[in-house]
Amino acid sequence: MPAVLRDTGVSGLTCRRNGVHAVRTPRLRVAVARLVDIADVDGLRDEVATYVHGVPTPATATVVEPDGTTRRLTLAEAVPMFLAAGLNPPAWHADLMTFLARDRRTKAPIVHVSLYRDSGGGYQAGGTVGAAHRGQGYGREALTAVCAIAHQHLGIADLSAGCETTNLPSQRWLASCGFTPTTGPTRHTLPDGRVIDAYWWQRSAPAADMCRNRPTTDPPPPHIAHPPADPTAHRHANLPTPR
Ligand SMILES: CC(C)(COP(=O)(O)OP(=O)(O)OC[C@H]1O[C@@H](n2cnc3c(N)ncnc32)[C@H](O)[C@@H]1OP(=O)(O)O)[C@@H](O)C(=O)NCCC(=O)NCCS
Repeated sequence: MPAVLRDTGVSGLTCRRNGVHAVRTPRLRVAVARLVDIADVDGLRDEVATYVHGVPTPATATVVEPDGTTRRLTLAEAVPMFLAAGLNPPAWHADLMTFLARDRRTKAPIVHVSLYRDSGGGYQAGGTVGAAHRGQGYGREALTAVCAIAHQHLGIADLSAGCETTNLPSQRWLASCGFTPTTGPTRHTLPDGRVIDAYWWQRSAPAADMCRNRPTTDPPPPHIAHPPADPTAHRHANLPTPR
């Protein structure tokens, strides 16, 4: 009997039990990033993006020992350890979902887009296009796909996004993906402590919850690529110790 393809709400979107969701756009394969993809996600961030996002470097992982004590490792140290132990979790957590978009032909990483829960419980979107690929429509292609997943698959009706008032590419990017200006705090503190003048954006659409493999709520996010304002809450990868 032929396999029955379930309607995911987004044309071509796969919704797998392990949390890996993927969809093809004309040039990209946009998929939930797994631990093995973290280096590629982080590698998209050049100096500009690091400054814009206010990301403290290097990224770290907090390893929880069986006795409950914790150890802080760099992601470069932690990732091979987890992969060697056969652990390759997807960044598919209710507080943070990270998508990596690769070129469909070459598989090269091009864009990452994250959806993350803010302190008010709403979802924000953010992301980075690799420096060599900016201004070629990739950012719009990837964010549009992730917005469709948020609205039509995950049942998130309202998305928001913040950006620095001086970041014209980001403003144009959000506008080109259907975000419209809204109100929000005019001053915003980035994870590295830099305080910016901020503009806020929103994107609302009819929502449908079609996801059969919803993001986990526990344990804490395995990987955070686009941290929200509170670095202590979200900058770490809290992972069980591999045995
Ligand atoms: C912002 C960013 C994600 C946009 O992605 P992109 O792939 O370069 O954007 P696209 O090519 O898809 O273009 C989308 C829109 O932005 C505009 N745009 C892109 N780069 C621009 C630039 N340097 N100056 C002005 N407008 C620009 C495009 O013209 C297009 O608008 P249009 O539809 O009105 O013509 C990318 O530049 C980036 O990663 N920048 C560094 C990190 C960053 O700022 N992230 C966002 C933080 S909220």
